[in-house]
Amino acid sequence: MPGEALGAEPEPGGGVVRFARSSLRVRVAAGGAVFCGWDGAAPEPSYALAGACPEADERAVLEPDTDGGWRVVSERVLVTVSRRGAVEVRTPGGVVLRRDLPPRWWEPVGAGGPAGAGGPAGAGGAVGAVGTVDAGRPADAGRPTALEGAAGPGGPPGGRWVQRSEVAADARFFGLGGRASGPRLRDGAYRLWNTDPGGAFGPGDDPLYITMPVQLVVADAGTHLVFHDNSWDGRVTLWEGEEGAGSGHDRPGRCEVRMDGGPVRSWVLVGTPARVLHGWAALTGAPALPPAWALGPQHARWGFGSEREVRRVAAGYRERDLPLSAVHLDIDHYRGHRVFSVDRERFPDLPGLAADLREQGVRLVSIVDPAVKAEPGLAVYDEGAAAGAFVKDAQGREVRGEVWPGESVFPDFTDPQVRSWWGGLYTERLAQGFAGFWHDMNEPVSFAPFGDPSLPRSARHALEGRGGDHREAHNVYGLSMARAGYEGLRRLRPRERPFLFSRSGWAGMQRYGGTWSGDVATGWPGLRASLALVLGLGLCGVPYSGPDVGGFTGSPSPELYLRWFQLGAYLPLFRTHSAITAGRREPWEFGPEVLEHARAALRERMRLLPYFVTLAHLAHRTGAPYVRPVWWRSPEDRALRDCEDAFLLGDSLLVAPVLEPDADRRAVRLPRGRWYDAATGRAHEGPGQVLLDAPLSRIPVLVRAGSVVPVASGGTGQVELEVWPPAPGRTGGGVLITDPEPGTGTAEVVRFTTKWRDGSVVVGQEGLPEPAYPVRLRGVPDAFPDAVVPGI
Ligand code: NOJ
Repeated sequence: MPGEALGAEPEPGGGVVRFARSSLRVRVAAGGAVFCGWDGAAPEPSYALAGACPEADERAVLEPDTDGGWRVVSERVLVTVSRRGAVEVRTPGGVVLRRDLPPRWWEPVGAGGPAGAGGPAGAGGAVGAVGTVDAGRPADAGRPTALEGAAGPGGPPGGRWVQRSEVAADARFFGLGGRASGPRLRDGAYRLWNTDPGGAFGPGDDPLYITMPVQLVVADAGTHLVFHDNSWDGRVTLWEGEEGAGSGHDRPGRCEVRMDGGPVRSWVLVGTPARVLHGWAALTGAPALPPAWALGPQHARWGFGSEREVRRVAAGYRERDLPLSAVHLDIDHYRGHRVFSVDRERFPDLPGLAADLREQGVRLVSIVDPAVKAEPGLAVYDEGAAAGAFVKDAQGREVRGEVWPGESVFPDFTDPQVRSWWGGLYTERLAQGFAGFWHDMNEPVSFAPFGDPSLPRSARHALEGRGGDHREAHNVYGLSMARAGYEGLRRLRPRERPFLFSRSGWAGMQRYGGTWSGDVATGWPGLRASLALVLGLGLCGVPYSGPDVGGFTGSPSPELYLRWFQLGAYLPLFRTHSAITAGRREPWEFGPEVLEHARAALRERMRLLPYFVTLAHLAHRTGAPYVRPVWWRSPEDRALRDCEDAFLLGDSLLVAPVLEPDADRRAVRLPRGRWYDAATGRAHEGPGQVLLDAPLSRIPVLVRAGSVVPVASGGTGQVELEVWPPAPGRTGGGVLITDPEPGTGTAEVVRFTTKWRDGSVVVGQEGLPEPAYPVRLRGVPDAFPDAVVPGI
């Protein structure tokens, strides 16, 4: 443990507090993000940060506090450091948002630390534990036990450490990457180790492909995001708090972070959810802007098997008047599963296929796996081997693993030269006519009959020249591969926005593109998990994602397929996909009724395209995810915090998917304000809960009163404004961001206002006497709010 504070030296943005056995740097960055680094840990190097560490806020000052502690006072946040090294982050008004207890370190493995410290850590194995036992906690919550003699001297980076924190009793936890059990993270242990669950996953499976030490904590006192900038294997254990029902004996919410190595450093951002995500995007990078076509409906399949089959499926969409913007080819189009190759027997003319589809407005997207078949004579292998591009063991031999093509090697994407080489390989993909890229198996996966299906922990990595092993590189492998692909595509096609999404990743991956659910099991629980993943990832700064519509495995019932399709239509990545052994996923394979309703969902998606493009630009500019929890604008509403079965799509829409069989209506919890049922035009008053019709033909969608929603008009595709009247005495508005052809100009932002004047709704466009777009008034302006059950 750090021991007693001995003194402090001011620095720009804060200062360094010296303890008997350690030191703590506190630095408030311009923009309000707070950095805390123990034992000399600095913000850099970091895989998460977008570029150089943000400038310090020169106005933040370090001052002595009472009781021998210190404090850093800044405009947006107050940080106190106690004499023994507990750090509190408070609002400027002094309300405590989180309290980090002093960290505890063990000697690095092999450095002769005390025997009681737990010995070498296995994969997520229990390390020597810290803290006191707290009765009444669930057994699966990784409860700490009493520590016996394990506290060695402050370990240098590389030693294992643990830190416990407290938050408000009413706080809810979100984030930690893509968690199938979310979005609200209940009591339990969440591992930080990107993992292919193998087969398919459901809500009980953890961890999955994207883990991140990023938590969003929402409480009455305020919202904050905490990021432990450390890519090592670790475990976060959460305990929600409990309020003492007026007795004054609240039990705080608690969190324990244990890492197998790496620095003890964190960032904290405080503010409204929108502010926090904005700050997070400023720190870790703006979400990449997808090309507009990537916001349209897409169809994938593992096992199309031939070019003819791809044409047949695309024709199936066209003939049935079903919009389609992309088809994705999986590993079966490769020659013997070799990345950057084509099976020319089954796909004799990919460029011709791509051109024909392109004429019909359909792009081709290619899967890209990192594993390269270890086959002398194969150009990608030979080139990579000659350049020393593949991950090696401590003796300098290539680390071999087993993936789809057989014995394989793995590019070391943590080496800038390897990234640059790999990025150049996309030339071959572009020449085949592919317009987008789907990174898979990049946790990375090496099949294993038991144990961790990845590279050995001893495998060596460049880590940007610092050198290290797989324990540190594992979690940033997918992120670094995304960087290689993204930067390569930027070089190869500088005038086009890359479209890239990646199964694995880490904090900051949004800079390079999005992600998808991975192999979500077909079933109603999988449908629910799909939404949890999209919401959770959005709160970690990754706004573009979506599930395998219909689920990855087996065959969904027509009803499940349709409900999944209806949800997918409102998520950023709207893509059907399934395993080679699974049933079909084309909308016409489930009978005429499903086809009709799926067509309606596809059309609605196309109608909302201007709104989706606007949301993509807003995510890029502000970090706000397209898909937001219903508490986004009302985090103080506790009932909303616990609502996990609906979401906000941008500022205007509230989408309530049907996540259960046999439903023809469902309860929907409304945030405060007036909401119109988009199907009936009926007005409902929030906060409260309403019961809405959810026939098979549609899922409930509500529109915030006062909204101006830019939509594509049915016939022409021209933008028109759908206007929903503000509540009496209120105003409203909206925004449209138009997407110029890539490389030919900057996006144009158009703002609208709505208000009541003399009994009519008036729509204004900033800078013009009247809107330059056709306006369509929707909703029933003076309908009496009904069916509201307040405060349940
Ligand atoms: C695993 C991916 O998650 C899945 O989407 C893909 O179809 C298979 N790999 C085969 O490439």
